Amino acid sequence: MLNEREEKLLEEAEHAMDRSYAPYSQFRVGAAVLSSDGRVVNGANYENASYGCAICAERVAITRANVEGIKDVVSIAIIGSSDAPVTPCGACRQVLFEASSRCNRDIEVIMSNSNRQKIRKMMLSELLPFAFSFERK
Ligand code: THU
Repeated sequence: MLNEREEKLLEEAEHAMDRSYAPYSQFRVGAAVLSSDGRVVNGANYENASYGCAICAERVAITRANVEGIKDVVSIAIIGSSDAPVTPCGACRQVLFEASSRCNRDIEVIMSNSNRQKIRKMMLSELLPFAFSFERK
């Protein structure tokens, strides 16, 4: 189901999941972003005693990639400590949409459960149709 490149990306997401800081929800998530020139940047969720301050793994990975100078994201892999593949929350979909608009390409989203046995692959445009954008009429 996944090619070699996708498997490697998911492995990077898994490494990040090991670094998740989720003492409140116990729900660990890791993500890894792939750029068009082959660079990989990962991220993990980072929670807070003030629950609403939690940051999702996807947004950590995307913002870290930006600081690394990555302008075009091709793909993101997400893995969660769950039985079912973890799907990005609405806010993360919108943030991914910004990354997608910026480089004018759709982003592949690979979603996995904890043991990598259940995997879903979708394009961001399928996960977030009619996303908000200033350009849309
Ligand atoms: N979380 C993510 O990191 N990514 C998602 O796509 C869904 C939710 C995190 C946020 C919070 O730390 C925990 O999972 C439970 O919601």
